[in-house]
Amino acid sequence: MSAFPAQPLYLVANGPLAGRVSVPGDKSISHRAIMFASLAVGESRIEGLLEGEDVLATVAAMRAMGADVARGGDGVWRVHGVGVGGLLQPQTALDMGNSGTSTRLLMGLVASHAITATFVGDASLSKRPMARVTDPLARVGASFTTAPGGRLPLTMHGACPAIPLEYVLPVASAQVKSAVLLAGLNTPGITRVIEPIPTRDHSERMLRGFGADLTVEESARGRVISIRGEAELKPQHIIVPGDPSSAAFWMVAASIVPGSDIVIANVLMNPTRTGLLTALRMMGASIDEIDRRDVGGEDVADLHVRHASLSGIEIPADLAPSMIDEYPVLFVAAAFASGRTVARGAHELRVKESDRIAAMAAALGACGVACTEHEDGLAIEGTDGDPIPGGATIATHLDHRIAMSMAVVGLHARAPVVIDDAAPIATSYPGFVAQAVLLGAEAR
Ligand code: S3P
Repeated sequence: MSAFPAQPLYLVANGPLAGRVSVPGDKSISHRAIMFASLAVGESRIEGLLEGEDVLATVAAMRAMGADVARGGDGVWRVHGVGVGGLLQPQTALDMGNSGTSTRLLMGLVASHAITATFVGDASLSKRPMARVTDPLARVGASFTTAPGGRLPLTMHGACPAIPLEYVLPVASAQVKSAVLLAGLNTPGITRVIEPIPTRDHSERMLRGFGADLTVEESARGRVISIRGEAELKPQHIIVPGDPSSAAFWMVAASIVPGSDIVIANVLMNPTRTGLLTALRMMGASIDEIDRRDVGGEDVADLHVRHASLSGIEIPADLAPSMIDEYPVLFVAAAFASGRTVARGAHELRVKESDRIAAMAAALGACGVACTEHEDGLAIEGTDGDPIPGGATIATHLDHRIAMSMAVVGLHARAPVVIDDAAPIATSYPGFVAQAVLLGAEAR
């Protein structure tokens, strides 16, 4: 339970959304930039880091394990790392807040160090499954004591030397993939992860950028990622592109509010992250890429989004890994489409910051949108562009993406859609409300 009172919020559009916003740095890349720079010897510089609570939890943890991580007055973060294998025993529990990515990736790092670390988190994180990470990490030699169900709080004893693992991912998860690869960084020999269904590839790209000996091959079993351990990482200058998962809220907001015409600048276009763009275009959204360019080894573009009539579709299940965090806001788009939108094959939504299938079914239902809950997704009947009834207070369950998605749905509602607590938005998008106002919405 937070010590602070809940912060209710709702947004109102008093007309079309217009203007230009730059979304903050990508969360996945920001976590990894801090972690990998903390393992490099020498000074790394990171520009455009997401300064949300989740990434700041990673910063605090890397400091607690010996890295020198500081923000300059120019907004550039400078990191002096400890070298692979050089993490120090943290003196107190590592507080992961709401952040699953911090927890699971750091568990991978600790697994191959001779240190003991305790991980704690908020009520949402303490409900999330960790066995998907502790199972493979036990096989490299780490040991654990956990709360019932293998959950946080969790104390981990790393192993040094650890045992190199070949691991076939049983669930499409970039966090599990990354945890095993990061354990492999300080493990003698080759650690291998086989990924039957591709997930976001930031760990692979960035580890190679930092000088790790990492290869990726396509095979009949899927993507085979091999990393040679006892690596030496070299400091880097990283420019973090804008987060497509944050851009998602404005992509949908401008699509549903009549007359809207906006530009979202500097959005990461890595194909493992653009599933929502594909799905919205299939529904008839008007989203043009302007000035596609390379920024620090990643494709980036500005997105020109105009209001459009959306049509209900079946969302292809194979898009799920590339839009896994975007389903809540996709459900919002579906609420304004003509006819029915069906999204299945997204079972992982049940174990995110909240059960996002149940949370969105309840939230949209309370606003007068007809939806049917399935074990692995939702079916939603859209209004064909009309405003939804609204007039409800939404339980956001400490889930930033439920809060932002339901704030967006309120932009085209007959009565306010009140978010019970906007505080979790700061985990990934501290400037969300200010940017809504910049685009012409009113925040109350
Ligand atoms: C992330 C992977 C995804 C995603 C999360 C960030 C990452 O989680 O939902 O927000 O940075 O690796 P899973 O690995 O559980 O799919």
